[in-house]
This record gives sequence, C-alpha cells and structure tokens, in this order.
Amino acid sequence: MCGIVGYIGKKQALPILLNGLKRLEYRGYDSAGVAVLNEGLFQTTRSVGKIDNLVAKMQDEKIGGASGINGTMGIAHTRWATHGGVTEENAHPHKDCTGNLMIVHNGIIENYRELKEDLGKKHEFKSQTDTEVLAHLIESLYKGDLRLAVEAALAKVRGTYGLVAMHASEPTKIVAARLGSPLVVGVGDKEYYVASDTSPMLAHTQQVIFLDDGEIAEISEHGVQIYNLADERLNKPSEKIDWDETTAERQGHDHFMLKEILDQPTVIKDALRGRLVESDGTARLGGLNMTEEEMHKIKRVILIACGTASYAALVGKYAFERLAGLPTTVEIASEFRYSDPVIDNHTLVFGISQSGETADTLAALREAKRKGAFVRGIVNVVGSTIARETDGGTYIHAGPELAVASTKAFMNMIGVLLMYALQFGRVNRLAVATGQRLVKAMLQISGKMKQTLELSDQIKILAKKYSGYKNYFFLGRGVNYPVALEGSLKLKECSYIHSEAYPGGEMKHGPIALLSPDFPVMAIMTKNQLYDKMRSNVEEIKARQAPLIIIATEGDDKAKELSEDVIYVPATMELLEPLINTIPLQLFAYHTAVMLGRDVDRPRNLAKSVTVE
Ligand code: AGP
Repeated sequence: MCGIVGYIGKKQALPILLNGLKRLEYRGYDSAGVAVLNEGLFQTTRSVGKIDNLVAKMQDEKIGGASGINGTMGIAHTRWATHGGVTEENAHPHKDCTGNLMIVHNGIIENYRELKEDLGKKHEFKSQTDTEVLAHLIESLYKGDLRLAVEAALAKVRGTYGLVAMHASEPTKIVAARLGSPLVVGVGDKEYYVASDTSPMLAHTQQVIFLDDGEIAEISEHGVQIYNLADERLNKPSEKIDWDETTAERQGHDHFMLKEILDQPTVIKDALRGRLVESDGTARLGGLNMTEEEMHKIKRVILIACGTASYAALVGKYAFERLAGLPTTVEIASEFRYSDPVIDNHTLVFGISQSGETADTLAALREAKRKGAFVRGIVNVVGSTIARETDGGTYIHAGPELAVASTKAFMNMIGVLLMYALQFGRVNRLAVATGQRLVKAMLQISGKMKQTLELSDQIKILAKKYSGYKNYFFLGRGVNYPVALEGSLKLKECSYIHSEAYPGGEMKHGPIALLSPDFPVMAIMTKNQLYDKMRSNVEEIKARQAPLIIIATEGDDKAKELSEDVIYVPATMELLEPLINTIPLQLFAYHTAVMLGRDVDRPRNLAKSVTVE
C-alpha cells in the first residue's frame, strides 16, 4: 500500500521527508515523489522505482543534491499502484490546475470517474489516477480555506483515503484526512509530522495522535486541530508510544503475519469495493475484457496456480460450477506446464498469483495462451509480469503482503473468484434473486470475519495445548476441503510441524490407519449441506481416540459432544465459508509457530515469490 510523509516546522523538510519514505519502504511501492513549499512556490520531483531514483533525479535536475530543495514544509509519497500504471505522471504528489495545491493519497476513490466527468473540460488531467481527480475537485471547491475545501470535496467522495494536502496560499498549514487508510500525526516542539504510520516520525517524536476514520487534522503553527466531517472540533490529546521503528512498521503487532491476518476484514472490502451490483445480483469485473457474447462461448474454465493460490482456486472451482454451471478444473502450474492440456478457444484460463511473478504459473499461462485459450490474471501486484502478459484480469487489492505465509491475499483471491463465478453465472443460468442473496452475504462478510478474529485468544490457548504434537490431519468437505489444505499448509510452513489435509470422505480409504492419541485432527464441521457426512467422519475419528479440534457453526451444541475443543464461527452462505473458516486455522498456525519460536514472517527455506522452477 502507499506511504505518506508530511512535515511542517523549523527544519529543512526534504531530509525529513526522504528519510521518512525510507522508513515506509517495507510497505512495498513502485514509484515515489516529494513536494516542498518554499517562498510561495512548490518544488516537486517524482520518479518511478526506488527512493534512490528520486534522489538521483533531484540531483540530476540540480534541484536536490546536498542542499536539497529548500523549505520547511512538505509532503512525500511512495505509490503502490492501484489505478493507472507505474509511471512518473501517475506518481504522487498530484497538483491542481494552478499548481498551488499539492496532495498525496493512499486508498481508492471509487467514484473518481463520475467526479472527473462532473469537473468537465475546465480541468486538465495529466495522469490516470483517482488521486489527481481529487486534487482538481478540491481546487474547484477552494475559497481560501484548505481544510474547508478538503471537507467539501470528501463529502462528494465514495471510497477510502488517507489524504495530506498543502496550498501555496496557506504556507503554514497542512491538512490531513483519514477514511479507511491509516494516518498518524506526530507532535514535536513547534513542529509536526503526518505519516501512514509512526515509523517515519519515531526519530523525532513519540507523541502521536492517531486519526480515526472520518477525521480531518489541520496542522499549523498554532498546533493540531482535529475535526469530524461535520466540521465539529474534536478533543484528541496526543499519546506517547514506546515502539521501536521495526514494531511501528507492524503497527504494534509482533509480526507482519498477525497484522495481515487482522487486516483481512478491511482488505476484503478493497477486493469487493465497486465490483458488486446489488440491484442486478451480479458482479462487474471490468478487467475480464470479454463481451457477454464471448462469455457465452466459454464452455470450460481452468484455474492455474501454486500453493495457497491453488487452494483459493479450488474454492473458485466450487463457485464456478455451482453458480455458472461451467466445468472447472484446478491445475497446479508446475504440472500443467508439462502436461498435454486439452485447450481451445472456448476455454477460459485464469492465472492466480499474489506476486504475479511465480515462474511456474507464468510458464503455464504462456502455454495456455499458445494453445488458444482466453487467458486472464487474478493477481495482487500491479504491473507484475502475469498482470502484464495476460489479456486482462483483476487486481485483488490486498496491498503488499509482507509475511511469506500468505493470508490476506488468499482471502481476496477467493473474493475475486466468487465475483467472477457470479458474473458468469448471471449471464448463464443464475437467477437474480440467488445472485442478490450472494451479493448481500458478500457485503456482510467483512463484519463476520472481524467477529471471527475475536477467537484469537481462545485459539492461542488451544495452540499451547496442542503444540507438543508432531503430526496433524486437517479435514474438510466441499468448499472446506481447500480450507483444510490451506490450514495444513499454514501450519507446515510457519511451525514446521508435519500435517496433511484430506477431504473428510477420504479418511477411511487409508489415512485413518495413522490415527492415534498422538495424531490430532482439525475437522471443519460447519453447518452446510455436507454437515451430516462430516459429522460421521468426526465420529469415526473420535472412536479412534485421536485428539480433535472442531470448527463448528455457532449454536451447534452437538459439536461439544464430540470434542471439548470446539471453535465456534459465525454462519454464512456455504460458498463464503472459506472466508470465515480459514481464519481460525491461520491463527492456530500463527500462535503455534510463535510458541515454538519460529521465524514467523520469514520461515526457513521459503521465499515470498518463487521466481524459479
Ligand atoms: C503461501 O503461504 C506460500 N507462501 C506459497 O504457497 C504461495 O502461495 C505460492 O508460492 C504462490 O505464490 P503466488 O501467489 O505469489 O503465485
């Protein structure tokens, strides 16, 4: 996700801004920029690539170098592209027509196209970004008070923002606003900082004010005033934090993996935002780049991926077949690329990948393209190789996933796959009422995920109780079989404990021979059409004295008859269960790994992106 740094005070702003951006590099980015106000004029530099490129560009253009840009007030930004490619024009800060307004932004302005149309021809746009539209909107509402103009503009915006703005006519003021993307104000001695998190300011101050959603800060020589969107002043005293800079990057959590697990309810909304159409009970994923006529010609879907992404693909298989009635297969990329796939121009192939750089997935997609399939990407990293080489697709908007063990990207992949299945379903056989029910359930899923995260303490206790075991089975049926696979992989890769996942019905075909009091089973037994079958499997397991942890639906008291260790999760539509049932398994793997002293964010032998065969 993007990084924001702002400063106003007595010191030269440039070094503070550049060092602050360096502290935010962990967030991942593809371009950077800075703007400093000096004697009523903004000096701005932007560049693609790393911050070092930005510094080099400033030196080349003789506006930087040792002395750097002069001025004691400025803003800076590292961009994680969401709308528009990785180019200098799309890098922040963005300005208005006059060049007197500069803004940096983190988030997604959902209605930026409508706003751009409303602004009309009076404004000249130079980039493809939603942020630049916001700059011109503020300009159109500016009457000499920057905070009031920002408030008026944000009242017209749908989406999320962490926004920082400056205006040359008000050279002692910075305005910051937050809705959905974090912003923190640092309070120094007659100098102030604002940033995406505390890491850029800890070298200067430990007194901070965390903005909450819907709040606006006006930062000036008179101090920091916080307002709500109704322009009412709020009393928000600063608080002292004693984090070191590394902890700050994790926003106070012990590991990126935990931060990313806890971010899932927020991040899933970024995947769904602007893509569900409640009235028609469908989804609209523009990146598909197919007419409805071409969609009707698709007779088969192939989902290609590796690891966790392949388990998300398995959930997608169930969704495509149930909603769209399209035969769907999941292919492990490393196998597909050397197999003899039967592909024609009625085949739609999706490559699913967080990094967008996985060598096996990329090679498999090239093979599918060579054989005439429609090839699309479902990826997280904007501008990644898979995103560029496929003829369209959808970004999952999970933000940078820094822990090697994938969590939030898995959830967002499932969200996008469900939307594609819905979109194809509604141009085939799916009734609008059914589609509307699914859309409604998807719009509620974030709250249920948040509720499920509250199980963390209970799961930590279970992880301690079970941390001595050396082997596990994970079992699930239907859409919960891929959940079992993912839970098993998380435990393996984070804690180094051996585990295997099976469809519940497979136990009696061999694996049950392994069951013993030393071989625990994690069984997903939530209330759905396969509940009775799964319950029978659990009873078979209980009969062999294997320790048993059950994931059950709230209110299912019978589960307690089968085990004392039951994790109750909220009910949801069956196809959405993976978005809920995976969370306890992620937390179980995380807490077990912590208890065993593993390198949770960087497990041994693993890379975040496997760019080699
Ligand atoms: C997941 O926790 C693992 N890190 C791994 O299985 C990963 O999902 C796989 O390598 C695929 O990566 P990708 O999504 O970037 O293609």
